[in-house]
Amino acid sequence: MPEPRIPDPALVVLVGASGAGKSTWAAQRYRTAEVVSSDQLRSVVGSGSADLDASADAFAVLELVVRARTGRGLTTVVDTLGLDAARRLAWLEVARQAGLPAVAVVFETDAALCRSRNSARDRPVPAPVLSGQLRGTAEVAPRLRAEGWDLVVRVGAADADPAGGVADAGLSAPGAARGERPAPAPAATARRLPLVLQISAFPWGEDPAGWLTAMASGAQEAGFAGLALMDHLIQIPQVGRAWEPLPEPFTVLGLLAGSAPGLELGTLVSPVTYRPAGVLAKTLATLDVLSGGRAFCGLGAGWWEREHAAYGLAFPPARERLDALETAAETLRALWAPGTKAYAGGRVSLPETTLYPRPVSAIPLIIGGGGEQRTLRIAARWGDACNLTTADPEVVTHKAEVLRSHCADLGRDPDEVGVTVLDLPVLGRDRDAVASAVERLRGRTPAAAFGRRHHAGLPDDHTRRYAALADLGVSRVFVGAQGLRRPEDLEPWSKVTEALG
Ligand code: CTP
Ligand code: MG
Repeated sequence: MPEPRIPDPALVVLVGASGAGKSTWAAQRYRTAEVVSSDQLRSVVGSGSADLDASADAFAVLELVVRARTGRGLTTVVDTLGLDAARRLAWLEVARQAGLPAVAVVFETDAALCRSRNSARDRPVPAPVLSGQLRGTAEVAPRLRAEGWDLVVRVGAADADPAGGVADAGLSAPGAARGERPAPAPAATARRLPLVLQISAFPWGEDPAGWLTAMASGAQEAGFAGLALMDHLIQIPQVGRAWEPLPEPFTVLGLLAGSAPGLELGTLVSPVTYRPAGVLAKTLATLDVLSGGRAFCGLGAGWWEREHAAYGLAFPPARERLDALETAAETLRALWAPGTKAYAGGRVSLPETTLYPRPVSAIPLIIGGGGEQRTLRIAARWGDACNLTTADPEVVTHKAEVLRSHCADLGRDPDEVGVTVLDLPVLGRDRDAVASAVERLRGRTPAAAFGRRHHAGLPDDHTRRYAALADLGVSRVFVGAQGLRRPEDLEPWSKVTEALG
């Protein structure tokens, strides 16, 4: 039985008597650094966790930690009895000021169990004190919601879910109102959504080909449907430094066509400014043949002037590049079509369309970019999909509507044109792995902002996000997993691909 989903980051305040299991609950779910405990701080500033004379100092430090962490947008779990209303409301206010959701977790653990745990301790709380705490918890529990917490989670109550609790107020826990069952586990989703790994950085050490083939095998083992490469001439600043290696993608894809049977292979996306469209048609057809029909073609208008200048390529204004994009899409379609006959279309005329070897499949043409006037219209006219560089559900919904309206306008069946998205996630197999990946990758960006931008989270978090995208009609997610160094880094993705497979 899943627990109600607690938003993250959040300020989480525990409420419950001694021995109710608060610290145990927190340790099972959060990193040590995320939990600030009055007991622990008593042993930092005093002689031990039961040194009540050190309480004032311990709470002074605790307040400092709570404000410092929440001020940085970091998840903070306040592990105290939580029964002091004034303190509790002050923490709620601190969360509000930090813009973090405020969550109360109340432990309605059976009184006899608390008593027996307490009496087994080295320094038990005196029995009357514990009775007072148990009474206090019973009084506070029903009042929490009215205090204004965004979410109240009940743990251990007789009428709560035995596995962990029932969410009370509604924040990000759909259908989890008191008495209802928590939202179903994302792993149980029936939605199918292929994930394609996008690799943009190449820390291949001394063995480039070995690294590339091992990453492709790793992607396949982790359940990815395909592998996509960026098509740039210089490493882009969003990913790395200009002197870091960035291979020519079609050469790499040729290598992988022979070593990773089963993966779809292509670029995300190739700028039309690099190669004449006819040559690109030829390249893709050959890749399709060598891979047994697994090639896809990402195509875009190009955007980075610097690499064009450096490589002696023209970089015309956006309008001309979009014209070139449309012309290229039409050329690809003409040259990939069966036969050798002459082609005369809207923008393109060719005296013959002789291209052998012919592609063995209908190579999917994915038009990159979300420009509403031109790019999405080109996708509606010529594409099998558009690719958006955001996984924001609101933006995706809007762009999908625009795409559909272009389809209607052009007389194209909207079901023939998919919406794909490029997502740039940080994934870790556990919270420690997520936190250390964020620290390694964030540069000077604050951890909370970096984590938010890259949806830093566990496999279930990404599964939930992608399932929601599938519900919006997204047909494929290109997963630009951040910080990939080794094939083993791909293993945790298998949970996501399985859930969506
Ligand atoms: N415990 C347990 N099973 C649980 C929760 C707790 O066996 N599901 C045990 C813990 O191992 C510990 C005792 O119960 O020995 C008290 O749990 P703890 O988490 O320390 O309770 P707290 O609520 O944190 O108590 P205190 O307020 O005294 O810190
Ligand atoms: Mg404790």
